[in-house]
Amino acid sequence: MLSEIDHIRGRAESELASLSTIDQLEEFRIRYLGRKGLIASLFERLSDLPPAERPEVGKRLNEMRNHVRSAYEQKLTAMRPGPEKKPPTDLTLPGRRRFLGSKHILTQTLDEIKTIFGSIGFSVVEGPEIEDDYHNFEALNFPKDHPARDMQDTFFLSKTALLRTHTSPMQIRVMENQPPPVRMIIPGKVYRNEAISARSLCVFHQVEGLYVSKGVSFGELKGTLVSFIKQFYGSETRYKFRPTFFPFTEPSADIYIGCFICGGKGCRMCKKSGWLEILGCGMVDPNVFRYVGYDAEVYTGYAFGMGIERIAALRYGIDDLRLFYENDVRFLSQF
Ligand code: PHE
Repeated sequence: MLSEIDHIRGRAESELASLSTIDQLEEFRIRYLGRKGLIASLFERLSDLPPAERPEVGKRLNEMRNHVRSAYEQKLTAMRPGPEKKPPTDLTLPGRRRFLGSKHILTQTLDEIKTIFGSIGFSVVEGPEIEDDYHNFEALNFPKDHPARDMQDTFFLSKTALLRTHTSPMQIRVMENQPPPVRMIIPGKVYRNEAISARSLCVFHQVEGLYVSKGVSFGELKGTLVSFIKQFYGSETRYKFRPTFFPFTEPSADIYIGCFICGGKGCRMCKKSGWLEILGCGMVDPNVFRYVGYDAEVYTGYAFGMGIERIAALRYGIDDLRLFYENDVRFLSQF
């Protein structure tokens, strides 16, 4: 029996060395060290031995069992990810994909507008979103009870303070603070008390433009804005100027581009007209010059204002302005 004990010890050692998973190891434990395992059955056979042999065989068997058990336990701790041990890193797993952010489509659009006007000498300034009645209306030649004040549904903060309804008050602030010539664009948020829908938002962005100098003509206004349209929408873009009214410009015009969805035939986007309105403009009204102390006999100028959301929506065929603010990555990542 002694040689049998040594033989089993040798087999256990070599088997143990070849095991590589916890499951195999458990199977090993049951087979050798389990209650009905090989070693237990050897112990059972002790009582069949002549009493004289039992002490020696018993001792060898005990040593063997202890040896196999500790070898087993060592292997188990080596294999089992203990709490303080990190699980082995699987270097074959694919890496995590990184998602790169990008500029919001409205920022991209504004950047492009800045670049186009920057290349012909327009600088960029910004101004306050909280305005007073004087700058938002009065100095822009809106008479006190002029219906145009109602056209722009205003958020009032107090009797005199309001959220600007357009970027035009910055025309006044710029001219109040510097003598002519001025040539700048003024981007920023504007606010209107309107129900939010696919076609209107209560907060949106405008870019104001203002050029005042000696001898500025409507021809220059036209040349500048047509050049902008062709750079922004493409050189083939059709356009038209239509007379309109703003209290602070005279004469005034709305500029339309040919509908790029239907090619002018009339569709939902252009409300069957074939044309899309993209901006308002005109020659600065001499009354405005009087408010800021510019000599209307010496200086002339033009101003224009466009909605950035609208400009971008028309370029990309977006039919719901709310998409710009929902920040759904499926929308944003298209640009
Ligand atoms: N402020 C006008 C608007 O919000 C746009 C405009 C700006 C028109 C400058 C003419 C000149 O509709």
